[in-house]
Amino acid sequence: MLIKQVVIENAAKRQDVRVTNGKFVAIADSLTPIADEQVIDATGKLMLPPFVDPHVHLDATLTAGQPEWNESGTLFDGIRIWGERKQTLSHEDVKKRAIQALKLQAAHGLQFVRSHVDVTDPDLVALKALLEVREEAKPWMTLQLVAFPQEGILSFPNGKELMTQAAEMGVDALGAIPHFEFTREYSVDSLHFVFDLAKKYHLLVDAHTDEIDDPASRGLETLATLALETGLKERVTASHTTAMGSYNDAYVSKLMRLLKMADINFVANPLINMYLGGRFDTYPKRRGLTRVKELDQEGLNVAFGEDDIQDPWYPMGNGNMMDVLHMGLHATQIMGYTEIMNSYRFITKQGARTMQVIDNYGIEVGKSANFLIFNADNWYNTLNERAELLYSVHEGHILVETEPANTQVHLPK
Ligand code: FE2
Repeated sequence: MLIKQVVIENAAKRQDVRVTNGKFVAIADSLTPIADEQVIDATGKLMLPPFVDPHVHLDATLTAGQPEWNESGTLFDGIRIWGERKQTLSHEDVKKRAIQALKLQAAHGLQFVRSHVDVTDPDLVALKALLEVREEAKPWMTLQLVAFPQEGILSFPNGKELMTQAAEMGVDALGAIPHFEFTREYSVDSLHFVFDLAKKYHLLVDAHTDEIDDPASRGLETLATLALETGLKERVTASHTTAMGSYNDAYVSKLMRLLKMADINFVANPLINMYLGGRFDTYPKRRGLTRVKELDQEGLNVAFGEDDIQDPWYPMGNGNMMDVLHMGLHATQIMGYTEIMNSYRFITKQGARTMQVIDNYGIEVGKSANFLIFNADNWYNTLNERAELLYSVHEGHILVETEPANTQVHLPK
């Protein structure tokens, strides 16, 4: 396959890209087609590495409205409605919805997804289903699974045993929910337990950390300390960390030193945290997001995740990371022109680093030929116009192909 004259990641000049046997084999100003080679004329169009969603919940996905819509939009009504829907959860039900959501994501250029799976279920129904989905989707989607203790590890009956069982069943990462544990002691102990388990089974760690507007929620400092002291460092991710948006500056300046030493990853989920955050505030009303701009400026790795796609906690979502990014840039005020131009990194390579798939990620000779081509000439225009995804190519196979729309606007001159 030969792709002609693409703009690779906002580059100043156009280049040709050759793909053979699923790998990038040449990138040059001009390459001549060889016999029987498929040629894609992409003159002046933007080529990016694939989108990455490092944080979604595929077990609850596409259940919004079942058995009722969450009309109040509160977290508590979400929990109540999910409690009812959870009664009817079955293997086939989870599998069908997860694959449907993954296909929505694939249609929007996602090729790497990390899903949390609730393991506070004595039968582990969702985990068993998603382990099958991970295998079935392999030809078109790299799916990682995180054992997510939605109701706590020490605060849920047999929480430790369920996490251990999930580790033995082959999850990629271990989660935690320190801010939800009954006490501060449980919170700290739950993280120690998770790190011990991660070391034993050689797993990544990705904890829902301080997803609350309470400035006293300080699971992050424990997570970062353990990441540093165990040496797991970049194999550890702090998801949400929304309490950090409410911490005082003196504490954050002290915390930042530790975070940089620990070198952990962060995932912010702008759609969901803008929607659920600040719910207990009157006015002024907090945005409920972590300090994305400050973490990024300090050189820490921050990615954006979609979190929920049409479930009891969030009524919208269609698998398009451009919507996630668009909200994220507004909410965190990362909107200088240069910042917007470079912002695709939050939904591409920074997510790939979070998922620890970065070694074989990116448009470089020798790496797997995974890429997207958009119907625009740079990222600013792609994001602003929600430009069509002309191609999503995975290991040399075309997964998505779009015929550009031809809209006629009949307005007076
Ligand atoms: Fe989440």
